Amino acid sequence: MKVLTVFGTRPEAIKMAPIVKELEKRENIKSVVAVTGQHREMLDQVLKIFDIVPDYDINIFKSGQTLTEITTNSMLGLEKIFDEVKPDVLLIQGDTTTVFSAGLAAFYKKIKIGHVEAGLRSGNIYSPYPEEANRKLTSVLTNYHFAPTKNNRENLLKEGYNEENIYITGNTVIDALKYAIDDNYVFEDELLNKIDFENKKIILLTSHRRENIGQPMENIFKAVLDVVREEDVEVIFPIHLNPKVREIAYKYFKGEEKVHLIEPLDYLPFSNLMNKVYLVMTDSGGVQEEAPSLGKPVLVLREETERMEGVEANTAKLLGTDYKVIYDNLKELLHNEEEYNKMAQAVNPYGDGRAAKKIIDILEEEFKK
Ligand code: UD1
Ligand code: UDP
Repeated sequence: MKVLTVFGTRPEAIKMAPIVKELEKRENIKSVVAVTGQHREMLDQVLKIFDIVPDYDINIFKSGQTLTEITTNSMLGLEKIFDEVKPDVLLIQGDTTTVFSAGLAAFYKKIKIGHVEAGLRSGNIYSPYPEEANRKLTSVLTNYHFAPTKNNRENLLKEGYNEENIYITGNTVIDALKYAIDDNYVFEDELLNKIDFENKKIILLTSHRRENIGQPMENIFKAVLDVVREEDVEVIFPIHLNPKVREIAYKYFKGEEKVHLIEPLDYLPFSNLMNKVYLVMTDSGGVQEEAPSLGKPVLVLREETERMEGVEANTAKLLGTDYKVIYDNLKELLHNEEEYNKMAQAVNPYGDGRAAKKIIDILEEEFKK
């Protein structure tokens, strides 16, 4: 069986790495990896850490790229690779524009598609934007839906997908996290090593969602800034490379002594940083899955989330992007110990760390049929 894995951004690379490693172990599988380069530095950081050298890289990256550019350039580049490789199955992960483009280009070639992290839904086509559309459009094209959780499976059943093609596997984000976390981890970066995680309340902040850029992100940063100025806390904010995000981040935080604005971290320091902080504030999808596994309360800076499992398990709170709601909830979590302890329970609704193995076992089984 020839399996072509395609990805293009940081989170896809992190969640596909355990799958690529598993494919490499299997004697009866030829594994080929292609990247679109939708992200560049942020993708390469992950490839290096997991020691993955792509067989193909169509390098579509352009700063300030539009969604249409990503879609059309990915499809044109991938079409040639599909013709050359002729895979039995294409594996794609998640909901980025790389994923949808690869799925559509493969469908046009009648290549079978396995969708990893299938069935996540927020219920609002504009939030997250354009991911909710990307994931729904990808489901339409998919032959094997690898759903991380029971809820994700239910979403697919509600949309009329055949239950025989839906498999609950857990999320490979947990496989990757198990590989990454080391309780004795020492950072290479001196700034991070100097931070007093034992005695200070340290907040890890990330924000990059397209629908938050503009007033919602301004509200988020203003609320964080006002709390930081009033409390004995520090914030670490590895800023996404999107120039629009960076502009707003600098507007609010530049020169603030207790806010550490840093470049995107490699995955190992980032996940180990998450393991050391007091709490996490984020609009990221992946971080919402990782933090609960590490027993870190998460304040989710989005109006909707497709990851309600963390909210239901009480480790995450869905705050939206209103200034006062964020300000009040952050204050509460810093002062109400009982509330904090309730949220700081390590729960793992997203998987057991063996998702990649399950997914490849299923593919091999299906291929035999
Ligand atoms: C993309 C995905 C989003 C995912 C996120 C993970 C889409 C439409 N969006 O959003 O689902 O949550 O990745 O981070 O697929 N940039 C660089 N270097 C990089 C990466 C980005 O300079 O390595 C800058 C560029 O100016 C680029 C901009 O960031 O144009 C935005 O990148 P893009 O891939 O279009 O969207 P993201 O917001 O990163
Ligand atoms: N991450 C990282 N370095 C950072 C910020 C995040 O390695 O500076 C990792 C994080 O551990 C998670 C993934 O990147 O696995 C999430 O990526 P992002 O938030 O960009 O995308 P999303 O999950 O929202 O699609």
